[in-house]
Amino acid sequence: MKKIGILGAGSMGAGIAQVAAQSGHKVVLCDTKEEQLEKAKAKLAKIMARLVEKGKITQQQSDNTQNNISYTTSMNDFEGSGLIIEAIIENLDIKKAVFEQFESIVDDQCILASNTSSLSIASIASACKNANRVIGIHFFNPAPLMKLVEIIPAIQTDDKTLRQSRDIIESWQKITVQAKDTPGFIVNRVARPFYGEALRIYEEGIADFATIDWAMTEIGGFRMGPFTLMDYIGNDINYTVTETVFKAFYYDPRYKPAFTQKRYSEAGWLGRKSGKGYYDYSENANNPAPTKSLVLGQQIVDRIVAMLINEAVDALYLNIANAKDIDLAMTKGVNYPKGLLKWCDEIGAIEVLSRLEKLQSDYGEDRYRASFLLKKAIENGFTFEHFIENGYSYCDLV
Ligand SMILES: NC(=O)c1ccc[n+]([C@@H]2O[C@H](COP(=O)([O-])OP(=O)(O)OC[C@H]3O[C@@H](n4cnc5c(N)ncnc54)[C@H](O)[C@@H]3O)[C@@H](O)[C@H]2O)c1
Repeated sequence: MKKIGILGAGSMGAGIAQVAAQSGHKVVLCDTKEEQLEKAKAKLAKIMARLVEKGKITQQQSDNTQNNISYTTSMNDFEGSGLIIEAIIENLDIKKAVFEQFESIVDDQCILASNTSSLSIASIASACKNANRVIGIHFFNPAPLMKLVEIIPAIQTDDKTLRQSRDIIESWQKITVQAKDTPGFIVNRVARPFYGEALRIYEEGIADFATIDWAMTEIGGFRMGPFTLMDYIGNDINYTVTETVFKAFYYDPRYKPAFTQKRYSEAGWLGRKSGKGYYDYSENANNPAPTKSLVLGQQIVDRIVAMLINEAVDALYLNIANAKDIDLAMTKGVNYPKGLLKWCDEIGAIEVLSRLEKLQSDYGEDRYRASFLLKKAIENGFTFEHFIENGYSYCDLV
């Protein structure tokens, strides 16, 4: 397959176009807005120049990548593509309308993929006559740098589309994991407590932002603390994902958003991009220092990690993905220091369950309920190691 169509030249579309072009494909990048196309082209030229300067690629490779991409405002130029990846605004009706249009432009063999973060692939596919060639291909931001790509077959997707999609994306030097078509797929589901429980700890007055971030990085081994990361992602974006996941799970209290983040988002304290979020990013800013108490820090880490492990175990229990893919997704998609199922084995399921049960009994909230599979692991005395090694899903064993 040589020709790839990308719809939407925003941060994701432009990044995905770069990845495909660097892998030798002819890419057609389409956007309704001329200025977005110009921006994407200029940004790519800048990135390529920097890579040449650093000696990471040759001038010839830079030229080839740039020459591989053509920019257009007409979707008709997708004709002859083997794969189209849609990366436009996160709106179901608009996505369905463009998928319907794709079918009148390309032949029957063309795979139609969406980069949606939160919408149902089954719903997008329902707009197509030939729904079995529709699939979710979910890149992470920035697409050229992030190794992980989640592949999400809808219930309509056929095996050939799934196989070919994985093959193409892996040929772009990406690591693919397969996820069930459910809210947040793997990463955006399992990672929720990293933000949510940190916000809850802050709201209870247990610790401030800087202390929670210090604990999670210095003691927990995470590359970035939750508040630094939320400021990096943008409080508006991160809040919207949380709210979308919460609603999509029929208001399961495990995913309840925090008022703190809602207010920060409403106030325009979005993080790095607005110059202020949980931290002040202006020059000579005087951000508070963490309280470096090892006892408090360990309590914070133990609580958040127990919640994260519980999400990972529950995702395995509900067959959202196999054990290997769940651990890969969190280490390669969001750079966690280790896979959460592996982490569960290290800490011990008994200890994780006891932390959750203590929280549930202290607060009396369903938010802290433990996954059935965590209890089952203790009851039957198994660890997750052989699930991870063999790439087992829970359904392989029952
Ligand atoms: N930004 C992220 O971190 C991230 C990560 C993974 C997935 N996603 C998903 O990727 C998709 C795009 O996100 P983004 O952050 O790149 O958005 P963006 O706002 O940066 O870009 C969207 C682009 O789509 C264009 N567009 C809108 N409607 C169009 C149409 N009908 N036809 C052609 N072009 C159209 C816009 O002009 C804009 O250039 C969304 O579905 C989002 O959920 C985003």
